[in-house]
Amino acid sequence: MAASPCSAGLLHLLVLIFGLVTTWVFVRRYINFNMKTILLGEWITPPLTQTPHTSHSVKTKCGLSKSCPDNFFAFKITSGAANVVGPSVCFEGQMIMSPVKNNVGRGLNIALVNGTTGKVMTQKYFDMYSGDANLLVKFLKEIPEGTLVLVASYDDPGTKMNDEIRKLFSNLGSTYAKQLGFRDSWVFLGAKDLNSKSPFEEFLKNNPDVNKYDGWPELLELEGCVPQKVY
Ligand SMILES: *[C@@H]1O[C@H](CO)[C@@H](O)[C@H](O)[C@H]1NC(C)=O
Repeated sequence: MAASPCSAGLLHLLVLIFGLVTTWVFVRRYINFNMKTILLGEWITPPLTQTPHTSHSVKTKCGLSKSCPDNFFAFKITSGAANVVGPSVCFEGQMIMSPVKNNVGRGLNIALVNGTTGKVMTQKYFDMYSGDANLLVKFLKEIPEGTLVLVASYDDPGTKMNDEIRKLFSNLGSTYAKQLGFRDSWVFLGAKDLNSKSPFEEFLKNNPDVNKYDGWPELLELEGCVPQKVY
């Protein structure tokens, strides 16, 4: 006996809901939504609800507004300001890349961290204005499973961008790599085996009408707690 249109519709709905729930559970396991804090507005309004206990509390890792729970890694990623001040990448209290360390450059600044141990694996920048895009393709393709990928733009991340690179970043969980272009601001934390969108991403399009600086949008700051990957 064929199912009535009504029960077929119900079945579709149930399949859809099941799919959503499974996806949510998976994402939840890898990235903790609750801890996502993007501090663009919060800089302006410092927390007024601090108790006396926390006012003299220990400094948080990477200067986060609140410390991360156990089994989470603290991180803060700041994009470059125009072509003047370089970006920075901090992970678990360790400044991996910064102008002071003199290891940042025009284009895309990328740090790789072991998602289980939190150990820094490597850091590198790729000139996306006049560099060789194939170097970045090779770098992204060789990222091993279980790696966290932290990315900060500086000056121009877009000129040498191509479809292959966009695809590779999308596979790490990026939403905005698809549209990343000339002088856009971009900060992102993704993971090699994240089969969904990362909640840790900020993007600002270069738009002369609303740019903060003459030829560039405002810099972006992204901080949060990313769960340690356990097997
Ligand atoms: C991370 O570290 C663990 C423990 O040393 C190791 O087994 C694993 O292969 C490492 N993962 C990556 C992506 O390097």
